[in-house]
Amino acid sequence: MDFNIRKTDDFKLVFVGSDPKNEDERIKSLKEKKYFKAENGECFLDNQTDRPCLYVGLGEDEEKTADSIKTAAMKAGKSLAKIECEKAYIDVLSSGSFDTGKQALAICEGLLNAGYCFNNYKKDKDDFAIKELNFNPACTGQASEKDFIELGHKWQGIKLTRDLVNTPAIDMYPEILADQAMKLAELGVKVTIYGEEEIEEIGMTAFLSVAKGSAKPARLIVLELNPGQGQPLALVGKGLTYDSGGYSLKPSKSMKDMKSDMAGGASVIGTIKALALAGCQKPVVGVVAACENLISGAAYKPGDIVPSLAGLNIEVDNTDAEGRLTLADAVCYAERTFKPKMILDIATLTGACVVALGEHYSGVLGNSKERVDQVKAAAREEDEKIWELPATEDFRKLNESKIADIHNTGGSWGGASAAGLFVGAFIDKCDWVHIDIAGPAYKDKPYLYEPMGGTGHMVKTLYRLAKDF
Ligand code: BES
Ligand code: ZN
Ligand code: ZN
Repeated sequence: MDFNIRKTDDFKLVFVGSDPKNEDERIKSLKEKKYFKAENGECFLDNQTDRPCLYVGLGEDEEKTADSIKTAAMKAGKSLAKIECEKAYIDVLSSGSFDTGKQALAICEGLLNAGYCFNNYKKDKDDFAIKELNFNPACTGQASEKDFIELGHKWQGIKLTRDLVNTPAIDMYPEILADQAMKLAELGVKVTIYGEEEIEEIGMTAFLSVAKGSAKPARLIVLELNPGQGQPLALVGKGLTYDSGGYSLKPSKSMKDMKSDMAGGASVIGTIKALALAGCQKPVVGVVAACENLISGAAYKPGDIVPSLAGLNIEVDNTDAEGRLTLADAVCYAERTFKPKMILDIATLTGACVVALGEHYSGVLGNSKERVDQVKAAAREEDEKIWELPATEDFRKLNESKIADIHNTGGSWGGASAAGLFVGAFIDKCDWVHIDIAGPAYKDKPYLYEPMGGTGHMVKTLYRLAKDF
C-alpha cells in the first residue's frame, strides 16, 4: 500500500468524532436525521452529494483508544472493500486528547488489517485490498510520511507471521518453515539452516528429544541481520510446527489449534523481515528451533531424563511441556554463539499464562528489571498488551528435580512463571527476557481489529526494541 500526506480528490473517507464544532452542514444534517450517529465503528456511505464519501464514527472524542480507532478503521476498510474502493483520501474530524499523529497511524493500521485475509486454501478468493491512502495534512499531527512507511514495513512482518502461523501443519513443518526463513536472504539477511546431524553435533539434545517422535526432521533456523556489527540483540522463538502433547497427549479440543505453536518463531522471522525492509543497521540475530511434538516408537517419554546443550540433565515429567526443552537449548546456543547484549525469547509456552492473564495479554519476565521494563516500554509505545509475571525464587524452586538437575513441569500453580524461569535456567550470564504469547498469538474468532487465526502479536514490539537497541 502507498501512503501519502497530501490533498487529493479521491473517494473521501471521513472519520467523525463527537465534538459538534468539527461538523459541517452535511454531517449535522445526517446526525439530525439520525442516519449517522458517529458511534465507534459505525459506517455510512453518503452517495447523495457531488462528492460521495464514507463517514466512519470514532465515538466519544475523550474515550478514544488505539484499539477503538483501529477497530473503527478496520470496519471502514471492510466497507471500502464492499464498494471496491482502491484509493481513498482520509479526513479526520475529531478532537480530544488522543495524539493526532498516533491517531492517523492507528487509522492506517486498522485499514491494513481490513485487507488481511488468509485464503490460500479457498477456491473463491476474496482478497480485495486498498492500494493507496492519502491523508489530509491537517490531520496527521507529528506523524510524517516516514512513519507511515515504517508502519508498512512492520505490517509486512505481521503479515508474514500470520501467514506462517495460519498455514496448517501438513504444509508448515520444520523444513518448510526453514524454506520460508531462507527467503529473507533476498533482503540481505544471513540465513543458516542446520539439519539434525548438525544439531546433534552442536549438542542440542533436549531440542532433538522433542523432535524424535516425528517423521519430519527438525531444523535449527538462524537469521543474522548486520552480522559483525557488534554485540547483537538475540530473538529466540519457539518453533513447534505442531504440538500434539506427545505421550502426555493433549485432549482433542486443545490440540486443534496447535499448528500455532510456532507463533514465537514466526514472530521472530516476521520481525527480522520488517527490520530488513526498513534497512535497520543494528545487529540482530534470530534463532528458531523448529520441530514437531508427536507420538511414535521413537518419541521421548514421560520419565525420560535428557541432557541439554548447557549440561543440565532434564527430567521429563510431561512431554507436553516440550517448548521449554527446545528453548533451553536455543537460548544456550544463542548465548554461546553470538555473545548477545540481550536474549529475548518469545513463545506460546503455557496454557497457565492464558489462565493468569486472559487471551489478550502476553506475560513477561526476565533476569533484569531494566530489560523487562525496556520491553514493557516498547510494548506500551506499540499498544501491544503485556503484563509482568512474578519471577522470584518461589517459582524457580518449582523446577527442582529430585533425580536430575531440573524437571519440566513446575507443579499445579504459577505455571507461566515456572516455565519462563525454566528457560532462564539455561542462560549463563546474559540479560534475558521471556515473553509468553500463548493467549494473544492465535485467536479462534476475530477480536477488535484483528481477524481470526494468527495475529502477529509482539512483532511491532520486537521491531521497536531492535530498532532502538
Ligand atoms: N503449546 C502449549 C501451550 C499453549 C497452550 C499454547 C494453549 C497456546 C494455547 C505448551 O507446549 C503446553 O502444552 N504446555 C503445557 C505445560 C504443562 C504440561 C506443564 C500447558 O500449558 O498445559
Ligand atoms: Zn505442549
Ligand atoms: Zn507447545
